[in-house]
Amino acid sequence: MADLLSPPLKRLLGYVRPYGAGMVAGVVLLAIMAAGEGAVILLIAPIFGRVLNPASADSNVLLEVPLLHRPVYLNHFFPHSIHNVWTVVALSLLVLFAVKSFSEFAGTSVIQYIGHRAITDLRNAVYKKIIRQPIGFFQHHSAGRVYSAVINDVERARLAISEYLAELFRQVFLFPVFLAILLTIDWRMTLACAVFLPMIVWPIGKLGRHIRKSVESSQTRLGELTQILQETVGGNRIVKAFGMEDFEIAKFRTASQRLLRETMRWVRAQVVTSPLMDMLQPVVISLLLLYARDRIRLQFMTVPMFITFVYTLFKAYEPIKRTGAVYQQFQQAQGATAQVFAYLDLQEEQDLAGASTLAPFSREITFDNVSFSYDAAPILRGIDLHAAEGEVIALVGSSGAGKTTLVNLLPRMYEVSAGAIRIDGVDVRSVTLRSLRAQISMVTQENILFHDTVWNNICYGLANVPKEKVTAAAQAALAEDFILALPNGYNTVIGERGTRLSGGQRQRIAIARAILKDSPILVLDEATSELDAESELYVQKALANLMVGRTTFVIAHRLATIRRADKILVLEDGQIRESGTHTELIARGGTYARLHDLQFADDDMLAPAQAAPANLESPQNPS
Ligand SMILES: Nc1ncnc2c1ncn2[C@@H]1O[C@H](COP(=O)(O)OP(=O)(O)O)[C@@H](O)[C@H]1O
Ligand SMILES: [Mg+2]
Repeated sequence: MADLLSPPLKRLLGYVRPYGAGMVAGVVLLAIMAAGEGAVILLIAPIFGRVLNPASADSNVLLEVPLLHRPVYLNHFFPHSIHNVWTVVALSLLVLFAVKSFSEFAGTSVIQYIGHRAITDLRNAVYKKIIRQPIGFFQHHSAGRVYSAVINDVERARLAISEYLAELFRQVFLFPVFLAILLTIDWRMTLACAVFLPMIVWPIGKLGRHIRKSVESSQTRLGELTQILQETVGGNRIVKAFGMEDFEIAKFRTASQRLLRETMRWVRAQVVTSPLMDMLQPVVISLLLLYARDRIRLQFMTVPMFITFVYTLFKAYEPIKRTGAVYQQFQQAQGATAQVFAYLDLQEEQDLAGASTLAPFSREITFDNVSFSYDAAPILRGIDLHAAEGEVIALVGSSGAGKTTLVNLLPRMYEVSAGAIRIDGVDVRSVTLRSLRAQISMVTQENILFHDTVWNNICYGLANVPKEKVTAAAQAALAEDFILALPNGYNTVIGERGTRLSGGQRQRIAIARAILKDSPILVLDEATSELDAESELYVQKALANLMVGRTTFVIAHRLATIRRADKILVLEDGQIRESGTHTELIARGGTYARLHDLQFADDDMLAPAQAAPANLESPQNPS
């Protein structure tokens, strides 16, 4: 039990510390409850010795208090008028139970409340930490495991803190009360019983460590389950389209099975503890009977006192057992919170010391010999780039060339490995993330819409936007027509990921959001690449409205959309291989010209195919 207060547990209990005052109140109440419990035990001897044994009734002697080894004359405490033993015992029981019950109720609920509060704080802290992680965190941690940590792991810690903390305090106070009673009845008998204590404590400690480890891995399994659930609920359309229901059901079942196996490991360890401890009881009782028989024969002890002793012994055994259970619960909590604390220890995305606010963008953006790598392999090498205010810079290159990576460096989704990115001559690392990102809007291939109204999705991140501005943004994004056709117009709640809307509609809501944000720098990363021809046309128009007056970085598959860019950069192997205007690059006859030819050949090939789909099967298609 020495590691009962191991560092992770101390840390968990640290969340209880702010509620110290309430805790003290709860603890005092439980101490009162324990005292009441002890007082009830003191009534056992008079009940057996007097109430149930009227022959020995002496109107003057009411209580035989084992503590003192001699009769106590209640007349010392009560008025002379009370002579009836039964009345006194009954009244005392009533009062004692009332006090005991009330203080147990009040103490337990105070401590439980504090436990819940502490865990709420913990959960909020983890959420805050996770949301403030740099983007890389979200790529390296499975969403399911993260959800599971915030929900399931914290819930397990809550059980330990709120349920078992109160339990622990109750037992901690009860034990000394019982011990005192036992010692005063017969200290030799008590010490003899204490010899067996290590045999009780040993399995608790041994099994506790086992439980902690198993719980940790069973929480990981639970995370796997959450992961499957989240993927197959979110991506249910794909599951259906590929007829993978049975496959996913089997996968889930296997993961459940693993969770079950891992869970049973600690459950077994937990449930075996109590019976294991109980095995000692027959031994102890038999030995006690042997000893007590002699003591009673020699009149060192009365039968009621022996009954009190055995009763108290059982009562005293309970706190030890319960404390053992609490210990195991705490081990569970530690196992469960390992991941939670690991998240809490992560470094948040941070501004550098003395970071200033970025002044409104007015002149130029430069990439000065920028290199970047995610892990070991370099992704971008020696990128030099200059974008004047109002220019449109297009990035072209094969898939995986590093285009997305390059634009993500601008709002510092990732930090450059070497070189610097400057806005109006100011290194982006020297300004606050908030002020930097406020000046950049991004529209990407997959735009996230929240489970909220269309209105709130458009206003995301902005407070108190005038109505006209929102509708103007929706109009400019060519989104108002379809929004008004929705069942509740702007107040229609769109599903998670906006599943009730088509790709083009989602995109236009995202564009409306960017228009409303009205930041001077714009990044369009393949914003139209997943759309059909008609949606693309709409989105193109919406984007044209969005781009007006903004410095724009545009990445697009379809070269037609970037022909009018002020500067086109061709990215290959993480380096800028060509740069210039469309005309210049075509004239140069390099990679861009080749891509351009390929695409237009492609278009020629597709054009008749779209007109008459049957043609697709004709040998006209060279592939
Ligand atoms: N989060 C990441 N961690 C590690 N490697 C990545 C990550 N994101 C992208 N990459 C790698 O970086 C390279 C460039 O990716 P990306 O910038 O997305 O290319 P593009 O947008 O031009 O298709 C690819 O080889 C890709 O595998
Ligand atoms: Mg990309």
